[in-house]
Amino acid sequence: MDSLYITTPIYYVNDRPHLGHAYASIHADVLARYSRLAGRDVFFLTGADEHGEKIAKAAAANGEGIQDFVDRNADLFMAAWGQLGVEPTQFVRTTLASHKRYVSTALALLYERGDIYQAEYEGLYSVGQERFVTEKELVGGKLPEDKEPPELRREVNYFFRMEKYRGWVKDFIESNPGVIQPDNYAKEMLVLLEEPIGDLSISRPKSRLSWGIPLPWDRDHVTYVWFDALLSYVSPLAAQADSFERYWPSVRHIIGKDILRPHTLFWLAMCKALELSPYRKLYVSGHLLGSDGYKMSKSLKNGVDPLVAANKYTADVLRYVLVREIPFGVDGIISDNVIENRLDKDLANDLGNLVSRTLTMIGLYCDFVVPTSRAHGADEEGLIEQSRQLQESIMGWVDDMKIRLATENIMAFVRELNRYVSARTPWKLAKDASKRDELNAVLQTLHEGLVLVSTLLSPVMPEKMRALRKALGVAGQPESLNERWQFDRGACVTREPFILFAKVANEG
Ligand code: MSP
Repeated sequence: MDSLYITTPIYYVNDRPHLGHAYASIHADVLARYSRLAGRDVFFLTGADEHGEKIAKAAAANGEGIQDFVDRNADLFMAAWGQLGVEPTQFVRTTLASHKRYVSTALALLYERGDIYQAEYEGLYSVGQERFVTEKELVGGKLPEDKEPPELRREVNYFFRMEKYRGWVKDFIESNPGVIQPDNYAKEMLVLLEEPIGDLSISRPKSRLSWGIPLPWDRDHVTYVWFDALLSYVSPLAAQADSFERYWPSVRHIIGKDILRPHTLFWLAMCKALELSPYRKLYVSGHLLGSDGYKMSKSLKNGVDPLVAANKYTADVLRYVLVREIPFGVDGIISDNVIENRLDKDLANDLGNLVSRTLTMIGLYCDFVVPTSRAHGADEEGLIEQSRQLQESIMGWVDDMKIRLATENIMAFVRELNRYVSARTPWKLAKDASKRDELNAVLQTLHEGLVLVSTLLSPVMPEKMRALRKALGVAGQPESLNERWQFDRGACVTREPFILFAKVANEG
């Protein structure tokens, strides 16, 4: 069985989760669910980034002990994932003893090999981004994504010989087209790699920051938060027998575009130095924007709170909109308006109406029992063929993180089924006893088509599709993406009124 290791960024737990975090986690969860349905053995990791200055400052501002603060916020993240239907295999925390041990071992190894050295450094540090920045990156004296300007710092740090690996990193990206997706992000990094990237400061003096993992050979310094955080992709596997060999070779990371540099320059160089095979894919998302077109942020109050949205529209509707609305990799707007339009158009109108028409007609004309029929003509064969092609294409799209394209095509199939109802007019066939076979074929095709839709959409909307399958009288969860049409299910559809998606937008 093919294995697959999927990770999200580990999130700074300086506050509660926002929609940007939910965006990455939901994409990872959908990828994990599709992959399981395709028969893969999946390990899905998410977690919390708990060290660093940003966290220490936020805890102090809150008047709380740092460990209590991160414990409380990490709980909020875990609970949020539960509410959004995100089911990781493991939730890693960088304050776990097993993670700290792994980081210490990695540091000791690099130090022993001479890949880490000590030097005095002067530079501009952004606490918001937790990294040294260059003058070139500043706009009006600060990074565009930061509130505060960077601070000038002069201190003794330990450095990782990142520059030594620049040629290798460049080669790796060049000789593996598609490893960073979409491709524009690979190009952006290759331009950066033309010039020296310097070495990476991987420690902070304890006199400035004590909240971190001490360096094993110098207890007066703690580990730089990014060096610590990136290793959280490996520490959970290293702590369990066989997991590393089983999952690491297939690793795929999902990240946002603002953390592309650490995931190419730092991480690939670190992997090479530590003799870890590099990632198989780095999927880079764009940013979610508020209705005003600016990046969602608390200060602008232009964001959609994922838990408020999940309460209002259900978690599944939010999941659907997040994967369906914006092509992965580019920026796009998510607002209540966008969610409601998508819900009304795709889910309530196209899919919801098809479901209620189908259930109503099977109730009315067949006393709720799905008819068995072989009276198939060209229309039915065409739909079956179309569904087969859809099944075969799905994993190709999903593996390229084009989940939007997958959902778009599934919805196109739903619209095809709606057109089929209009063309075959089962309500007319029902009036003519000699057309009974034809009527049965139409109802059975619609039922079977919907069973297939419930399978194909279950990774995106697991709860809604479970409810749909129950209403269709189909027991159990879908087991495979390649389920074949059945012509003799003999299922009984629900006798209760069933509304899969309620409309919300105002008419007109
Ligand atoms: N802790 C680091 C990641 C370490 S991974 C080894 C971090 N954390 S974060 O909490 O600040 O951000 C996590 C992810 O959320 C990033 O991938 C970032 O791109 C994403 N988002 C934050 N705001 C976002 C939007 N408005 N839209 C989409 N994603 C954005 O960085």
